[in-house]
Parts: sequence; structure tokens; C-alpha cells
Amino acid sequence: MKDSIRHLIQQALDRLTAEGVLPEGLTPAIQVENTKDKSHGDFASNIAMMLAKPAGMKPRELAEKVIAALPADAAVSKVEIAGPGFLNFFQNSDALAGRLEAALADTQIGVCKSGTVQRVVVDLSSPNLAKEMHVGHLRSTIIGDAVARVLEFLGDEVIRQNHVGDWGTQFGMLLAYLEENPTAAESELADLEQFYRAAKQRFDDSAEFADRARALVVKLQAGDAECLNLWQRFNDVSLSHCQKVYDRLGVKLSPADVRGESAYNTDLPQIVAELKAKGLLSESDGAQCVFLDEFKNAEGNPLPVIVQKAGGGYLYATTDLAAMRYRSQVLHADRALYFVDQRQALHFQMAFEVARRAGFVHPGMDLEHMGFGTMNGADGRPFKTRDGGTVKLVDLLDEAEQRAYTLVKSKNPDLGEAELRRIARAVGIGAVKYADLSKHRTSDYRFNFELMLSFEGNTAPYLLYAYTRVASVFRKLGKGIDEIAGHIQLEAEQELALAAKLAQFGEVLNSVGEKGEPHLLCTYLYDLAGLFSSFYENCPILSADDQAVQQSRLRLAALTGRTLKRGLELLGLETLERM
Ligand code: ARG
Repeated sequence: MKDSIRHLIQQALDRLTAEGVLPEGLTPAIQVENTKDKSHGDFASNIAMMLAKPAGMKPRELAEKVIAALPADAAVSKVEIAGPGFLNFFQNSDALAGRLEAALADTQIGVCKSGTVQRVVVDLSSPNLAKEMHVGHLRSTIIGDAVARVLEFLGDEVIRQNHVGDWGTQFGMLLAYLEENPTAAESELADLEQFYRAAKQRFDDSAEFADRARALVVKLQAGDAECLNLWQRFNDVSLSHCQKVYDRLGVKLSPADVRGESAYNTDLPQIVAELKAKGLLSESDGAQCVFLDEFKNAEGNPLPVIVQKAGGGYLYATTDLAAMRYRSQVLHADRALYFVDQRQALHFQMAFEVARRAGFVHPGMDLEHMGFGTMNGADGRPFKTRDGGTVKLVDLLDEAEQRAYTLVKSKNPDLGEAELRRIARAVGIGAVKYADLSKHRTSDYRFNFELMLSFEGNTAPYLLYAYTRVASVFRKLGKGIDEIAGHIQLEAEQELALAAKLAQFGEVLNSVGEKGEPHLLCTYLYDLAGLFSSFYENCPILSADDQAVQQSRLRLAALTGRTLKRGLELLGLETLERM
């Protein structure tokens, strides 16, 4: 709808230009917003205020001329001038009802991508395999998953890439320990965290062990078969730990999506050679660097991207350059999105710039760092266990499910144990995910079990419950959500407000896909649930005496149910029919 209003305004401006009212050559970006207060229409534009000056007119005067020049459109019932010169558009309720009918009849619920369909690489999760996944990996995993799902729903071809850290010096220490304790290792590997600590302890305590660890790294890098074998065994175990977490979180990631740092090993010498051939390399203290003038340190000197250490070793950035080249040249991506901690922002800005200058990515390819803030504890400080250790993700999820179990049981003491567990899982895991997704991606946030498990406010329990309310209407009726005849007719204020919100689903999903911000979808679903609630209270559905009214309201409820379910699913939440 916004697009078509923009188009109407454009036609009016063209007409005014042709008539000489507006000077030639104006190409304003026409802004159209949803209004907050529906008594002022459904959409507003400030175009008359933007163009008043170049047109040499008062904004309200120009607004009148724009309105007069607007082509007629069945979807718009009237246009008014408000305040200093806003144009307020009221949408025609029959046209709105027609759009909702079309959405009901469509498996895509009327949603399509507003731009061209693309091939998008989504870099997500990407933990370091030397250690067990901890809370720091939660955000990348679930925000990346939600955005990937939305892009897929919009029709993009999404390629998930789990760029795990499966290479590097800490593997020497782990392999040395694995070699030393072939049997103990089997059982200890079940707890990677403990295994890592034990290996680290040996490394710190024994110089001889440390030497062996360093020698093993060299052997590993030289491709020694036995070393590679040990390394593979270790990574397999570590990756299976990750996969368990993904499955439990309901995240769409599989072993096939893993393409770790080691996959780029053989490309690294070539990356350095190409940079050299392009004249981009300089040596600094024996290290190979690319200096970028636009990035300066505190003293005003250009900052380097180091691609090879003095000893010959390669770095995180070198691997990222190789990965960018692969994503462009082999995967032919139009766009690559990196869901990585905000603290790596500079790394990505610089690496993207080097990749562009070196021609590692094709000029039309978009590279976007989708950085995120830190998840803090209730005290506002980085999330830690009581004794100051990092919190393992599995422990956090266990606690969430346990708390949800207690909560659901207290509300529903009669539920059977299996049913209770199933609901507790959906609510507990959903609460952790939703609490994260509903915050602005770039801000830090406080992890708080009580708030995220509350049935009030913008939380998973509230939304899951809202969906069950819709589902219960159809259960009582004894009909499926897709079996309602009749037509949507919008009369009551609450029906109109709900309908207008429902019509915005596609626009919201497009913004989520463009900006990589799932919180926009959360806010939308929360608003939708609220509007459904007032509709439900004010507009009787099952007790409506007029059959046509009842069918219309059922159809509105059906579309609300489908939108809530689909929206929650795109966020990666499992919905329940009752709870
Ligand atoms: N393994 C890295 C870490 O844990 C994240 C990798 C993100 N992806 C990338 N292409 N650099 O910090």
C-alpha cells in the first residue's frame, strides 16, 4: 500500500512539473509512513513540506495542489491536509478487505519481496570448536536463523555458512592432550569445557607439554596424516555438541552448512600473492599488511589489515578474505550477511574494504556486518556463572525449560506429564529466543528469566498464548482455520485497526530482510496480538447473531492466526495449539 501511495504521489508531482507548478529536475525521495492515530488516516507523507521551498510556496498551499493532481485510486477513500502540511491518506475499507481476502487465499499470506530476488549468504553461529558453545554464540545463531528464514520466505535463495573456528594454535594443545590421554579423552570429550581446561592446565604446568603442543601445530599445518586424524576426531565431537544445541534451539543449521576456517587453508597463500600482485601489500616489522588510509589509529596513522605474520602464519582476516572470495566467485552471492558480535565491526569494515580493492568480490555484491550487542546478566554486567565462568548454552536452556515447566504446571495442574514437558520446552526455549530477538540487534541487553517468562508484555508466553486464543475459537466452532466461508467486511473500529495491521505483514518482513532486524517482526506481532485482543473483546465472534458478520470476524481471526503462526515460525518459535 505504501508503494502504491508513493506511486500516486509521484504521478501528481510529474503532473505539477509538467504544468510548471514545480521546477524541473526535482527527484525527491517520497516518504510515506504508517500513522499512529487512525483518525488521521492510515498513511502520511511530508512531501509538500519537503518541496515547499524549491516550489516557492507555503507547504499547505502546495499540499492542496498535490491533492488536486493525485490520480483517483480505488484503494484510497480520501486525502486530507493536516498540521503544517502533511498529506493524510485514508484507505478504502472495501479495498483493504479485498487485500485481506487475497492474503487468506494465498499460501504466502500475500507477502512477496519488494525488490529483486537474490542469492544471499548468511554467516551465522560460527563458534570456535576448541570450546563448548557458550551464551556469546546464542545471538549470532538465533538472529541469523530468523533473518535467514525471513529471506527464504520472501523468495531469496539463502546459503547458510557456519564459519566455525576449527583451526589455530589452541588446537596444538588439545591434540597434545588427546594424544597423551587416548582413553581418558573419550569420556572427557563429552564435556568439552572440562577437556579444554585440563589441556590448558597441562600446557601451563609443563614446558615439555607446551613444546609438544607447538610442534603439533606445525605438523598439523604441514598436513601430517596422524595429526589431521586426531584433529578430525576432536572437531567431530565438538561439532556434534553444536548440532545438539541447534536441534534443541530449533535452528535450521545442519552439518552441511559448516564451512569452517580450515576449509580455506589452501587458499591463503594465494590471497597474499594476489594482494601483492595488486600492489596492495606492504611489509611492516616482517608482517605482510594492507594499509587503509581511511582507517586511522589515535595518532592519525593508517591502520593495517595484517594478512601474514612475520613467522609466516596467517590470520583471522586472511581467512575472512578467502571466505569472501569463495562466497563471490564460487557461491555467486549477491549479498553476504555477517551475524557477528558488534565488537568485530572494525575488522569487518576493513576486511570488506580490502576485499573490494583486491577484487575478491564482484563489484555488485553487498557485504553487510549485522553486528549485535552483548547479552548481560541481570546486574548489567557480562553474563557469567556465579563463580565467574562463562555460561554454557546447554545449562541456560535447561534452566529455561525447568522454569517454564514450573510455571506451566502452576497454571495448569491437570496437564499430563508428557504434555507438560512439551509445552515447557516450547515456552522455555521460545522465551530465551524471543527475549533476544525482540531487542534491537545492536543494543546490549539484560538476560532476565522472570521478565522473559512473563505472560504480560512483549514476551514469548504472551504471543504463544495469543495464538492459542485464536486457535481455541476454531476449536470451539469445530472447524479448521481454513474452512470459513463468507467475506471480510470491515465496520467496527477494532476490525479496521486489526485489518490495517494485518495488511502490513509483508512490509514488515521486507524491512526485516533488508535491515537484518528481527525485532521489527517481534514488535509487529506484539501489536497484532494486542489489536486482536481488543477486537476479540469488542466484536463478539461466535455469539454474533448475524451470520455474515460472524463469518467476516472468523475470517479476520483466521488471518490473524495464520499471521501469528507464520511470524513466530519465521522467528524460529514453535507454536502451540493450547497451553
Ligand atoms: N569464530 C568467530 C568468533 O567466535 C566468529 C566468526 C564469524 N564469522 C566470520 N566470517 N568471521 O568470534
